[in-house]
Amino acid sequence: MSQKVTRRQFLNYSLMGVGSFMAAGIILPMGRFALDPLFQDQAEGSMITTSVKAEEITEEPVKVDFSFDQQDAWYESEVTDFAWVYRDGEEIIALSPVCKHLGCTVTWAGDDANPNRFFCPCHNGMYEKNGQNVPGTPPRGPLDQFEVGTSDGYVTIGERFANEII
Ligand code: FES
Repeated sequence: MSQKVTRRQFLNYSLMGVGSFMAAGIILPMGRFALDPLFQDQAEGSMITTSVKAEEITEEPVKVDFSFDQQDAWYESEVTDFAWVYRDGEEIIALSPVCKHLGCTVTWAGDDANPNRFFCPCHNGMYEKNGQNVPGTPPRGPLDQFEVGTSDGYVTIGERFANEII
């Protein structure tokens, strides 16, 4: 028994085939686009080399700039940040400049009355040199630390983490 395909069936099959092909052409790239960040290699744990020589670091905190590429979903940009870096014996310490009260930027010796403390000008927040928040001022926790190291004699900065000096 021969099965004949009617003109209507042929058209239906043809349209379904073409429609499926077109739908796949639209949906597959969208799926890939939506999931793309999941397949990106993460650069976690990588250290950023700064332009400051480790031998220049003293017991006095100095501002050390660094920049890195930030991937925000599909948008990549270069971000510039800095750390307060000082030497404690043989160890180099890097502290975050972000105030733990409301996120303003702290400065070293920014208050004439407290030359050996970090000062936050937004609400007169203060921190000791090791990042410990001074009781009686608005911040409720110590400044974060950065991973820090050296590479070819230059200071390197890594991930930020909760203060472990205190
Ligand atoms: S933001 Fe620093 S004291 Fe308020």
